Amino acid sequence: MPELTWRLGDRPALDDRPVWLEIGFGGGEHLAEQAARHPDVLLIGAEPFQNGVASALRHIDERALTNVRLHAGDARELMEALPEDVVNRVFILFPDPWPKARHHKRRLMTQPFIAELARVLRPGGVLRFVTDWRAYAAWTLERMQGSPQFHWTAESAADWREAPSDHVSTRYEAKRLGDSAPLFLEFVRV
Ligand SMILES: C[S@@+](CC[C@H](N)C(=O)[O-])C[C@H]1O[C@@H](n2cnc3c(N)ncnc32)[C@H](O)[C@@H]1O
Repeated sequence: MPELTWRLGDRPALDDRPVWLEIGFGGGEHLAEQAARHPDVLLIGAEPFQNGVASALRHIDERALTNVRLHAGDARELMEALPEDVVNRVFILFPDPWPKARHHKRRLMTQPFIAELARVLRPGGVLRFVTDWRAYAAWTLERMQGSPQFHWTAESAADWREAPSDHVSTRYEAKRLGDSAPLFLEFVRV
């Protein structure tokens, strides 16, 4: 069994492979499927929910994947341990929406977090953000468009309404808990 998890303080063992990062991978089904489809990519996932980590380890084991590394904790800790300009793609799929106004400060997509995403993403790297909460999509769009380091790639409504061809549906997505169909926002690191 290869080394699958990182302890804080470990220096991530990055090599020449493209690096994709999934933040809040939940049960890990998206992470494992992308890893299986892209054996030449190193997939890194961060998730503090222990049952999710256990589920992801099961997927990794069952599919004998060797190109996945997990951080069982907050993605922000993991990102701090990464050098700048090393990540090619970031996936944030259905992050906790915190719909009540008094909880908005708990949302992941704050300005400091967006600055950290810009630091670890290579120029040309892509962030995919998906939510089924209209207000969280608008919140994210406003903050991402306020960052000169990111460019929103959408050219027509189909670009945010229709799933990209390489999207892998997640367990949370299937629950349809939001107030909208999934909204797909993609941003390029300028
Ligand atoms: C609504 S769930 C969606 C899970 C998964 N992406 C899916 O689509 O099935 C949001 C996930 O983000 C995780 N999460 C919340 N804050 C996080 C953080 N700071 N770093 C990493 N994961 C986080 C939660 O533990 C939870 O599993």
